[in-house]
Amino acid sequence: MIEPGPVVLVSTMSGKKTNIMTMSWHMMVDFEPPIIACVMSNRDYSFDALKKTKECVINIPTVELAKKVVACGNISGKDIDKFKKFGLTPSAAACVRSPLIDECYANLECKVIDTKLAPKYNIFILEVLRAWIDRPQTPPHHPSSGQRQVRGGRRDHQAAFQDEIAFILGISVIWNADVPCNGQVL
Ligand SMILES: Cc1cc2nc3c(=O)[nH]c(=O)nc-3n(C[C@H](O)[C@H](O)[C@H](O)COP(=O)(O)O)c2cc1C
Repeated sequence: MIEPGPVVLVSTMSGKKTNIMTMSWHMMVDFEPPIIACVMSNRDYSFDALKKTKECVINIPTVELAKKVVACGNISGKDIDKFKKFGLTPSAAACVRSPLIDECYANLECKVIDTKLAPKYNIFILEVLRAWIDRPQTPPHHPSSGQRQVRGGRRDHQAAFQDEIAFILGISVIWNADVPCNGQVL
């Protein structure tokens, strides 16, 4: 009854192996820099990848992906390639090796900045380094339209967009391509 949302797909890359897991236990922690806490079970294959590589992408799925989202959350990527099995497309991220999932509405490139709570609670603290959106896609919670956009422009020029994505995500995210991968404002 107090389940948080939205359900997201977390993509990782450990060595040459990419993986995807479904996640709903996450929460916004801070605005600037944008920090997210998430719970990833140590029984999940993704746990080891996140712990080892200290990076991932949080992908915001569209409603059309609902079945695949559930499927990714009910099978381990240990012995299968979920990108292939579920017909999802990996594409290169800017700041991390973990792939973006092309079919998703938005993608947040993240680095792990704190693992202190991982041994006891499986909680990882992530900082969002870069965010992407595919506006023609149907977002998970409300309709939108427009051109595919890579984040550009300064944050104050992007207020409307930020409001939109914050609404979609149920969180607030710094949305700024002027922020390089280390999170420092140029
Ligand atoms: C809707 C949904 C939400 C989920 N949320 C989480 C979550 O927040 N944390 C978690 O550890 N597992 C969660 N899971 C379970 C993992 O996605 C599942 O164990 C998955 O198979 C792990 O994949 P992996 O072993 O390839 O990493 C969720 C599953 C579903 C279907």
